[in-house]
Amino acid sequence: MKKNLIVFGTRPEAIKMAPLVKEFEKHTASFETRVCITAQHREMLDQVLAFFEITPYYDLDLMRPNQNLYTLTATIIESLKPVLEDFQPDFVYVHGDTTTTMAASIAAFYSGAKICHVEAGLRTFNKRNPFPEELNRSIAGRIADYHFAPTETAKANLLKENISAKSIVVTGNTVIDALMFSVAKLHTQNYSDNEIDTLKNTIDFNKKIILVTGHRRENHGQGFIDICKALKQIAENHSEALIIYPVHLNPNVQKPVYKLLGEISNIKLISPLSYPAFVWLMEKSFLILTDSGGIQEEAPSLGKPVLVMRETTERPEAVEAGTVILVGTNTDKIIYETEKLLKDKEHYLQRTKLYNPYGDGKACARICGFIAQIY
Ligand code: UD1
Ligand code: UDP
Repeated sequence: MKKNLIVFGTRPEAIKMAPLVKEFEKHTASFETRVCITAQHREMLDQVLAFFEITPYYDLDLMRPNQNLYTLTATIIESLKPVLEDFQPDFVYVHGDTTTTMAASIAAFYSGAKICHVEAGLRTFNKRNPFPEELNRSIAGRIADYHFAPTETAKANLLKENISAKSIVVTGNTVIDALMFSVAKLHTQNYSDNEIDTLKNTIDFNKKIILVTGHRRENHGQGFIDICKALKQIAENHSEALIIYPVHLNPNVQKPVYKLLGEISNIKLISPLSYPAFVWLMEKSFLILTDSGGIQEEAPSLGKPVLVMRETTERPEAVEAGTVILVGTNTDKIIYETEKLLKDKEHYLQRTKLYNPYGDGKACARICGFIAQIY
């Protein structure tokens, strides 16, 4: 019996690790699997756990208001020590590029467990952008024993860093497993969801819905001010559009967004949505503006154009396909590209083709199958 410890801390890690937890739970004769959450996020993480019906075995409960990277990193490493000593896992799974990912990789290495990096090999090759994610994932990649790369591009990035080809498996991204599960659940006849009912009752879906999210640390400060200026201008110029913005709970995002966009009639600021409600709203949207990583992966599967409010992306596949356009945080550029999509039907339609570069929904089965054959 192999012992698996799956560690995650934030909303996107939870969404992308949930299907892996479910996959291992199908194979209880071969694996004993426990989930440990650092709870680097709290409410936003709990929303995901509730939807996927996952009860963590260990909850480190580490989130603090407006937390800093120094304390968070240190407390994650320290708090994982007793967990690793108690369970003594053979394999520790970390995901992506958060502080939880990086710190849990280090702690797992100290424990002697084998480290499995899910969503391995994404790179911008710019150490400070995205900050601190590019360094977090590079460190996890240096430490990991097994690398589950979502795409061939991600695998090539790892090979460039002299990672052994034998330790890399191209699996597709587990976010597509999560998305397919959620879309299927949403479309079952008896599915009911209070949050979706509220959206139905409070939003005028005759308008062109522009869905917005944002949280990146490198955009804090002037970046968010410039984004908000663009959103305000778009709202004023386009009464046919309705901007819906579920605002991330980070105070560095909440403060400027509510201050600058709080009083505009066709901008609706709301609390972060649970995953199914967010997927439902993505399906209903005309266009998505975001700096998120995960949304860049989900949107092509739903045929939604995305303007990415970042200078760089580690997800070049959808940019090459035309679904994703990088606009940075420049006010004029955001307005220009949004208006082009609102006004030019041909340009819009070219960006709505269903395209799935990030997976086929079987990534978790591949990861589980790979670990099962290791002696
Ligand atoms: C973190 C990750 C980022 C990931 C993002 C996903 C790091 C350094 N950053 O950024 O890579 O893309 O999550 O959303 O790992 N907060 C709450 N409730 C919550 C979540 C956050 O109140 O459920 C507030 C708290 O005040 C918290 C702050 O947001 O201290 C910042 O959270 P943190 O995880 O440090 O940074 P994020 O910006 O969320
Ligand atoms: N998401 C959600 N509710 C929201 C906004 C986003 O469930 O209100 C989901 C979204 O579908 C995607 C993930 O959260 O799967 C992205 O998380 P985030 O943007 O916080 O992090 P990133 O992907 O940039 O690391």
